[in-house]
Amino acid sequence: MNTVLFRTVQTDRSEASAQTVSFDFEGRQLHAPKGITVAAALIQNQVLHFRDSPVSGQPRAPYCQMGVCFECLVQINGVQNRQSCMTTIEEGMVIRMQQGQTTFTVIQTGEEQ
Ligand code: FES
Repeated sequence: MNTVLFRTVQTDRSEASAQTVSFDFEGRQLHAPKGITVAAALIQNQVLHFRDSPVSGQPRAPYCQMGVCFECLVQINGVQNRQSCMTTIEEGMVIRMQQGQTTFTVIQTGEEQ
């Protein structure tokens, strides 16, 4: 019977964990370890304001860090409503705060009559 419930946290600075990526957040060039989420990368860079609530206008930041609460929405490479806690940071990403309500682009398929 396999009784391993938890994965051991890697504490050494192995080749993979020592690599960093560069990304843009609101015009600032930031750096983070390769392989972590966008949310973790921003928090590591002391970013704690990810978006504004479309209802109250209050600043929001990640809460659950597991894809449930949607408090961590940002714009990544021009695509709005991306869950930063579920997205891996990549070299050259352009990340923007999400301001208020967003819009969706309706794609016409030509099938509607
Ligand atoms: S922090 Fe909750 S969905 Fe991302």
